[in-house]
Amino acid sequence: MFDQLKPQPADKILALMAAFRADPRDQKIDLGVGVYKDAEGRTPVMRAVKAAEQKLWQVEDTKSYTGLAGDAGFHSALSQLVLGDTVSADQIACAATPGGTGAIRQGLELIRMAAPEARIWLSAPTWPNHPSIIKYLGMPMAEYRYFDDATRGVDFNGMLTDLDKAKPGDVVLLHGCCHNPTGANLTYAQWQEVADFLRAKQLIPFVDIAYQGFGDGLEADAFGPRHLAKTQPEMLIAASCSKNFGVYRERAGLLMCVSQDAAKTALNQATVAFLNRQNYSFPPDHGARLVTMVLQDDLLRADWQTELEGIRNGMLSLRQQLADALRKRINSDRFDFLAQHRGMFSRLGATEAQVEQMRESHGIYMVSDSRLNIAGLNADSVPILADAIVEAGV
Ligand code: LMR
Repeated sequence: MFDQLKPQPADKILALMAAFRADPRDQKIDLGVGVYKDAEGRTPVMRAVKAAEQKLWQVEDTKSYTGLAGDAGFHSALSQLVLGDTVSADQIACAATPGGTGAIRQGLELIRMAAPEARIWLSAPTWPNHPSIIKYLGMPMAEYRYFDDATRGVDFNGMLTDLDKAKPGDVVLLHGCCHNPTGANLTYAQWQEVADFLRAKQLIPFVDIAYQGFGDGLEADAFGPRHLAKTQPEMLIAASCSKNFGVYRERAGLLMCVSQDAAKTALNQATVAFLNRQNYSFPPDHGARLVTMVLQDDLLRADWQTELEGIRNGMLSLRQQLADALRKRINSDRFDFLAQHRGMFSRLGATEAQVEQMRESHGIYMVSDSRLNIAGLNADSVPILADAIVEAGV
């Protein structure tokens, strides 16, 4: 049997992570995988998460299974963080999942079960694991234009023109905020227009929100999913706690099925619990429980928000520093988009050869499509990157 296995395509982000680790140079700069790093290059356990972990160690008196769909406290705490009060709890079916990827996978499986003909529309470009999972599941997919290479902003007309070709019942995968890999995001007015469009065309939104709090703040970053939850008959949301709670390896995520018709929730809930059972039975609980404890405790929550704001503002400052450094070097505003983009990533606009050159000459690692992780920078590496970008002729 094993003779029949064929090598699978490498995930370019994870391959880059391995290449960075293997590079013996001291001066190397990791702008690859989407993991937050402080100015010293560490990915710290957030203070409130550490405090919750200490408390949990004292009070947790069993490691027995949670519910099949995870803990109800986690469902309500995280769905409240994402959706606020836009819909009532009885309109949301939830399943805790292993990270945001688990939520995407379970959401896709639900779509395949309910509507096998539905095409999944992906932004061009998108996180490479989106098409990879969809292809693996054998589901039909299509692309809509999203990023305008010339302006380095959203190609909104292109997006709606392409989505106009979708058929009623098709699913549109949208990044809730902090678009990965481009950093270019919809404005509030565009979200409203997208919502009207989806509703009129009977398309179903599937929102992937993995960076809430990294863009314009926790509330502002939730505008899109909240507006959709208010206006669409039904939608799916995959939320990740990896980045905004820094619990990457704990694998804490949540799939939400939102319906205007609360009578649908019981079946939706039973379905997502069934899907959990088929794939891994019970979802991991440790990270989800820490997140719940932080969100339910006023002091921990306030401290978490303060730390998250610090992270967000740090990234905004690095964006500005890099844009300023480039402006100074080339005497042009060509890279000002870096300060306007939001979240962890921006797509720089370098060719693969230029990305390669920056890696060879300066040990700067970014994804081959020139996505760079802003959080991998610090005050010392900004000028090094700016010099390398100019030297490579980007
Ligand atoms: C990324 O885009 O770098 C992150 O979401 C990590 C991953 O799993 O790809």
